[in-house]
Order: sequence, then C-alpha cells, then structure tokens
Amino acid sequence: MRRTVPVRLGDRSYEVLVGPGVRASLAGVLRRLGAERAVVVSARPEEWVPDTGVETLLLPARDGERHKTLSTVEALCGEFVRFGLTRSDVVVSCGGGTTTDVVGLAAALYHRGVAVVHLPTSLLAQVDASVGGKTGVNLPEGKNLVGAFWQPSAVLCDTDHLSTLPRRELRNGFGEIARCHFIGAGDLRGLSLTEQIAASVTLKAGIVEVDERDAGIRHLLNYGHTLGHALEVATGFALRHGEAVAIGTVFAGRLAGALGRVDRARVDEHLAVVRHYGLPAALPSGVDPAALVRQMRRDKKAITGLAFVLDGPAGAELVSDVPEDVVARVLDEMPRARLDELVGDAAADAAPA
Ligand code: GLY
Repeated sequence: MRRTVPVRLGDRSYEVLVGPGVRASLAGVLRRLGAERAVVVSARPEEWVPDTGVETLLLPARDGERHKTLSTVEALCGEFVRFGLTRSDVVVSCGGGTTTDVVGLAAALYHRGVAVVHLPTSLLAQVDASVGGKTGVNLPEGKNLVGAFWQPSAVLCDTDHLSTLPRRELRNGFGEIARCHFIGAGDLRGLSLTEQIAASVTLKAGIVEVDERDAGIRHLLNYGHTLGHALEVATGFALRHGEAVAIGTVFAGRLAGALGRVDRARVDEHLAVVRHYGLPAALPSGVDPAALVRQMRRDKKAITGLAFVLDGPAGAELVSDVPEDVVARVLDEMPRARLDELVGDAAADAAPA
C-alpha cells in the first residue's frame, strides 16, 4: 500500500510518497526534475541508496546532532563544487532527521539554492523532519540556531527502512505521531504504519501550506514540545526527542485541564495515546522542575511569559502568559520515574522491532 501526499506551495509544491519500496521512484523523480547529476549524501549503507539514473557522487554522512554543524555544510558544499554540481542538478539526502536537516541546508545555500530530494530513513524524519522545508544546523550555543526554509522537491518515505530500526528509534518517531492526535489528525491508533505516516504528513502539509514560515499556526506542530525540549536539555539528551515530546504531550493535557480548557476525559486521553505507543509519560525523577521552568522561558514561542500549545474548546492553539504557578503545580503533580525506567526496555533493546 502506498500513499501520495501533496504539499501545495505554488511553484514550490511537491509530493511526499509513503510506503514500501517508494525509494525506487528516485530515478523517475530526478528525471522529472531534469537533473543530469546528483550528489547523494547518505548516512546509511550504500545498498540502501536507490539508483538515481544519472551520474552520481555518493558521499557518506553520519546521523547525529554532533554532525549537524556549519562545518559539515561547508564540507558538503566543497564536495559539490569539486564534483561540478550545477544549479540544474540535485542533492539527495538519505538518513535520519539530522541528515535531512544538514543536507537540506547545504542544498539551500549552494549556488543560492539547488533542488533537494529527501529519503528519510527514520520514523521521526518521515513523519516530521523531512517535510515542510525547515533545514538547519546547531551552534555550540544551541540547537537549530542557523537555518533556512528550503522546500524539498520530493520526499520518499520508504517504510521498508523502518523494519531495520532499533525499537527505541521507532518509538522515538511515534512520539511525533502521538502528538498529531491532539492537533487535528484524529485517532491514528489502529491504522497501518503507512497510513499513520501519511496521516501525520497530511496534517503537517496542511499546516505548512498556510504558514510555511512558522509565523502562526505552524506552532501547533510544537504540541508537547515546550516541556519536551526542556526535558531533552535537562537530561543531556538522554531522553530522545520523541520520548521527551511524549512526556510533554501528557503534561500539555494536564496543563490544559488545570487551566479549565479541557475536561478530565481529554486529559486522560493524552496519557492513553502516549501509552498506546509505549512511550514514557512521567518526569525523570532526577530533574529539577525549576530548571525545566527556566528552560521553558527560553522557548522560541515564549515572547512574553511561558507559552504552550494547548488543547481547548476550539482545538489546539498557542496560549501565551500561562501563569508560572500553575505550570509549577502541574509539573509537581506529574508522576515521576527513574530515567532508566522511562527509557526502559526500548533502550536495552538494540535489535530491530
Ligand atoms: N518540526 C516542526 C516544524 O516543522 O515546524
């Protein structure tokens, strides 16, 4: 079963293909783009990279925040020059979200913009990072501080790649799928994985189509992320992004309940959805709630006071100036668990799910 999700952005429109074997569409995509050559930057084994149908330079890459730097972008652009990549050629990324981010930025900057096609191989990258045109790298001062909006020309989400993922990596992606439940995707539990990815991408496409530059409703995609980002920092990234977002999603439900925006059943639904995906729902016991609040004040949505995307009578929306004492109380009331318990079996299990 395959799904095609259009992202309609005028002359920057593209399709996201989802399903088993869709990577084989790469040669056709490059032909349609009129590319004569391609640079494929891949964090995966050579045999994962599909035929491009054109003269190709294959560059090895490594997933991971450590490699998401301006010096990686500079090194990639140098390789593009030496290969003779022109503006009518194409860059292809193959790997997780950190790879699609850094390769996307290199494509955005090289010759002031060359087409990029993403082949995301992690669930997190398929449902979120590779779609919507956000590219970026980290600075020593923080994550994603330098970047550009650069829409891909196509995204191929090949679900065959997911069967090779360690269980924890798969669960990480489900953190982003779980939050879709509360921002307009409806209940995705019970759908096939391809359908869940396609539904998450469809939701994101609809949001990006009306707010490509993240000036308004694109904030909805950050449901569960305010606490999630703070937890990632507080645990030194021992919690994976999707795990931290899952805890942040449960917290967002409780906070919406405490503010009288949703009823008890809706608060409980947050826990049920997160648990359905086997994701953690408690705060790591060693983490200082005051440090979390300090970190959340630095969130980019927090122009004045603390800001969260919260569910409510009209659906999810950005809520600014959330009283700090309510945030502190809801944090205090969150269940606690040891970090190793939260990460649990999934971390110990390095084998494919
Ligand atoms: N990952 C959130 C966004 O693309 O806006």
